[in-house]
Amino acid sequence: MDPSQVGISSMKNLTTENITENVLQINSRCSDARMKYVLERLVHHLHEFARETRLSSNEWMTGLKFLKEVGQISSDVRQEFILLSDILGLSILVDSIDHPKPKGSTEGTVLGPFHTQEADEMTHGGLMSHDTQGEPLLVVCTLKDMSGKPIQDVKIDIWETDSSGHYDVQHADRDGPDGRCIMRSDNTGVFWFKAITPVPYPIPHDGPVGRLLKKLHRHPYRPAHMHFMFEKSGYDHLVTALYIRNDPYETSDAVFGVKDSLVVDIGKASAEVARKYDVPERHALLTYDFVLMTDDETSSLRDQKSREAMDKLGRKVKIVDGLPIPDLD
Ligand SMILES: [Fe+2]
Repeated sequence: MDPSQVGISSMKNLTTENITENVLQINSRCSDARMKYVLERLVHHLHEFARETRLSSNEWMTGLKFLKEVGQISSDVRQEFILLSDILGLSILVDSIDHPKPKGSTEGTVLGPFHTQEADEMTHGGLMSHDTQGEPLLVVCTLKDMSGKPIQDVKIDIWETDSSGHYDVQHADRDGPDGRCIMRSDNTGVFWFKAITPVPYPIPHDGPVGRLLKKLHRHPYRPAHMHFMFEKSGYDHLVTALYIRNDPYETSDAVFGVKDSLVVDIGKASAEVARKYDVPERHALLTYDFVLMTDDETSSLRDQKSREAMDKLGRKVKIVDGLPIPDLD
């Protein structure tokens, strides 16, 4: 295609100073406004990164080789790119931007690389983990909206490691899914099940991400936690986890997921709770009251936060569906 036909000025004699402007110009014909904005910002920051660090050719090639290795080790059950995003703090940053939470609602946290689509649906009181080495744990939770009204029939995905700190997909000889299930809240917003007390575990560190952590003198451990994901039409999709208090890695999570509001104590079942849920008295007990936001509540807060962020940057953009796009008016 002849650039002069589409209003692009010819590009040659490119320098460290004018290369960015030229790349932005040739990308600017993109008809998807959001994609155009994201690409424009990506190229701008990538080029600034190279100029600011005086990036050498060797370093650039080392970076590309690293990304190639991240791709090569990845599979359906080995999500090295999610791990890389997690250890760089990008996953938790994106979750906080896309799912802003006001006080009183349950905060989100990292999805991590071990969620799968293969969990079985389980009825209330079911046994999620069949690991006989783990400490049996009764989990009783409620699910409400911001006004305190119970939410019924929410699809809840739950997953945790076994007592050795491995998810089911990390065992090559596994028979099928374990330590994970799908439940639905009842008409009082309650869901309850039997699991094992979570233990701390290292993220997979035998690949390129692990080698990077080692170079950075960082440990690969995550504090003990159980993952939860909530889905119901009309409500903001919530990906979160509960962390067990006083874990040795509570304040140094390799993927930055811990938030005070998600740290819980393991209690002991009272005689009444033991009777009600058919467990021995003083059985380990985890309780939590989750609060979901509606889609409308989330989108208005996301919109407000986007406007505040763009004002702070002094950027002249439009906010559409909570996301900035170029303002061409
Ligand atoms: Fe996890």
